[in-house]
Amino acid sequence: MNNVHNIASHDPLRGLRVAITGGTSGLGLALVREMARRGAHVAFVARNRERIANVALEHPATHGIAGDVARKEEIHPIAMQILGRLGGLDVLVNSASSLGPTPLALLGDTECEDFEQALATNVLGPFRLTKALLGALTASARKGRAAVVLNVSSDAAINAYPGWGAYGASKAALHHMSRIWHEELVSEGVRFLSADPGDMDTPLHALAVPDADPTTLKRPAVAAAELADLINAAIAQRTSADAPSAHATLARNVEAGIT
Ligand SMILES: NC(=O)c1ccc[n+]([C@@H]2O[C@H](COP(=O)([O-])OP(=O)(O)OC[C@H]3O[C@@H](n4cnc5c(N)ncnc54)[C@H](OP(=O)(O)O)[C@@H]3O)[C@@H](O)[C@H]2O)c1
Repeated sequence: MNNVHNIASHDPLRGLRVAITGGTSGLGLALVREMARRGAHVAFVARNRERIANVALEHPATHGIAGDVARKEEIHPIAMQILGRLGGLDVLVNSASSLGPTPLALLGDTECEDFEQALATNVLGPFRLTKALLGALTASARKGRAAVVLNVSSDAAINAYPGWGAYGASKAALHHMSRIWHEELVSEGVRFLSADPGDMDTPLHALAVPDADPTTLKRPAVAAAELADLINAAIAQRTSADAPSAHATLARNVEAGIT
């Protein structure tokens, strides 16, 4: 117990303002718990109000925000609430995701509307929300605070799995967009990560692969701890004198799909 407390009290995430989309289930929920455990101030976003209330009840210090990141008109209200509740922003995690049609369909059988929904949730949502919060993130960077955006990717962004067309194409776009954001903003002190958390035992995975044995899948809590460490590594690169070599390493990792 003491050990856990020590880790949390010295964690670079302690005191940082962190917003997480998709924070009521699977990886997003595990991230809410992990960030809160490490002492961050946490706001999270999802659509279902009952589940938001349940998470907020479990973690009274966190701020639940109801909103749909796939809907353009909801982005600014979501961003305003994040900034209002947290008083600024240091870390944004885009974890909310749409699988596209389930059971998973071949591209030739995929409705255009389902493809649009995957793009709206997995690419346009993160793009719009990041854009709406960019002023706050660059302000954090200017004050010498952390400024990190983590976009949750997937191996489906790299591998051409039949049946994963809408989801895979959207995650590939998200991954590439993250790399471009990074190149454009690293000189301003805002770092972008794109990370594949691995196959996890979550409702999304059960929908996509109903026959999978959950005991063979990663626990979302394990993936959340790994991602929190990844964010800390990006923060450490900034604080280690912002060396050009650190930028190059991060860029290489993003390139390789490691981060
Ligand atoms: N599970 C895996 O094996 C796996 C593997 C690789 C990558 N990933 C990625 O990991 C991330 C988390 O996946 P997961 O498996 O944890 O998913 P999950 O259990 O289905 O959770 C998804 C979360 O996102 C929220 N959400 C969905 N659409 C939303 C929208 N339009 N606006 C706001 N919130 C929305 C959901 O709440 P509401 O429904 O209430 O909105 C829920 O809180 C995703 O980006 C996924 O692509 C997962």
